[in-house]
Amino acid sequence: MQPFPNNFLWGAATAAYQVEGAHDVDGKGPSIWDIYSHQPGTTYQGTNGDVAADHYHRMEEDVALMAELGMSSYRFSIAWARIFPEGRGKVNAAGVDFYNRLIDTLLSYNIQPMITLYHWDLPQRLQDEGGWESRATAEAFAEYAMTCFLAFSDRVSLWSTFNETVVFIGHGYITGLHPPGVNSPARALQACHHVFVAHAKAVAAFRQMQCDGNIRGKGMIGFVNVLQPHTPASTMSEDQKATRIADGIYTHWLYDPVLKGEYPKELLEIAQLTLGAPEFVKGDEKLLKENICDFIGLNYYKREMVAANPQQSTFEMNTSGQSNSAGEFGFKDLFKFVRNPEGEYTDWDWEIYPQGLTEGIMQIKARYGDIPIYITENGLGYKDPIIDGKIIDDARIDYLSRHLQAIADAIAQGADVRGFYPWSFIDLLSWLNGYQKQYGFVYIDRHDYLKRKKKKSFDWYQRVIQSNGTIL
Ligand code: BG6
Repeated sequence: MQPFPNNFLWGAATAAYQVEGAHDVDGKGPSIWDIYSHQPGTTYQGTNGDVAADHYHRMEEDVALMAELGMSSYRFSIAWARIFPEGRGKVNAAGVDFYNRLIDTLLSYNIQPMITLYHWDLPQRLQDEGGWESRATAEAFAEYAMTCFLAFSDRVSLWSTFNETVVFIGHGYITGLHPPGVNSPARALQACHHVFVAHAKAVAAFRQMQCDGNIRGKGMIGFVNVLQPHTPASTMSEDQKATRIADGIYTHWLYDPVLKGEYPKELLEIAQLTLGAPEFVKGDEKLLKENICDFIGLNYYKREMVAANPQQSTFEMNTSGQSNSAGEFGFKDLFKFVRNPEGEYTDWDWEIYPQGLTEGIMQIKARYGDIPIYITENGLGYKDPIIDGKIIDDARIDYLSRHLQAIADAIAQGADVRGFYPWSFIDLLSWLNGYQKQYGFVYIDRHDYLKRKKKKSFDWYQRVIQSNGTIL
């Protein structure tokens, strides 16, 4: 049996703020990241996406490189503030035109677009009006989504609404490291609920447009989440229990609403009791229930080992409403992530554990059934060595080939994995780590007019694609 099906999509991914640059060009409005990254002390050495990879101006050259690589699909996000500079209302025709040209260029090389509607760059105007804490943002998102479906869905059949809620809500509203820099679990849960509402409204609009014949035949809409399997740090029952809690918070809370149309009941009760959030309005349950995804996108980088936190080791303690911790989603104190003493780690302390990708995919299949899966991100953040002018990123080749093998293993065990989008196609801005943390197959020389150079991994991935993964 061959490791990957014949119609498997070989892709790569990026996100608008991280590659496009041209932050204030052709009528684009400011996003929260344009504003936040300009505030002192928010990002690594003050780096920002004003120029990024300048993909906005070099799109044709970049797509030609994707074609040379042999990609059959490209995952990118749309900058909401390019389409609606103020978040809603008047459409910016130049923004629509850019994505029309990008889509047409991709299709001219037979590269299938996969669009993410929201990869964290909320229009600043909507943030000024309350951002994701305001229900009106969910309405604005539905308007934005419909505008994109109408403009592009005649040529685009793979759509996802949101990228990694746990990161933009977790960092935006709990750690405060992303905009809007808030530190409140209750506000996080309410904002997160509005994201699910926004997602469901967009899915409903998509389905309606499919019925009306406005969307290309096989169109599918999904959601992209972090896939972070948890392993107990020991066989002790406290650690096992802590792991189940971590699964509940980091996986079930974020996947159940979009794949089962409901929150995990027990956690929801505890959250509403201890934090008073999320609050629902009439019809929310029905909206979520009726708008389950067609597929799920999984972003896998690492797993976490979980141990009980001796300071507060029982889940039940929180149900009393007394110990309302200020941790992740309000329950962080109940467990902690610990380092695996035998683990292999990146320079940024992310455990390299390819087998976790197989395990995570199989856990998703076990809980949610035979949902189509795309691996929408996977990659190694690394300071690439340059030897005699060549970028020799052997560590990336090793990382990706082991993770591809892990995907092949999941497919062999019956998972419906349909595509692989390594992060990232080209070196781009890491939100909090600037340009030093590289992920791409294509290097950007930031001292030589952003000149593109193919890395060693480019040739490797080209051979993988040509062989449909059989050379692994
Ligand atoms: C994912 C995001 O969380 O991880 C990407 O979807 C991000 O946008 C990637 O760049 C890698 O994270 P980091 O922090 O290493 O740039």
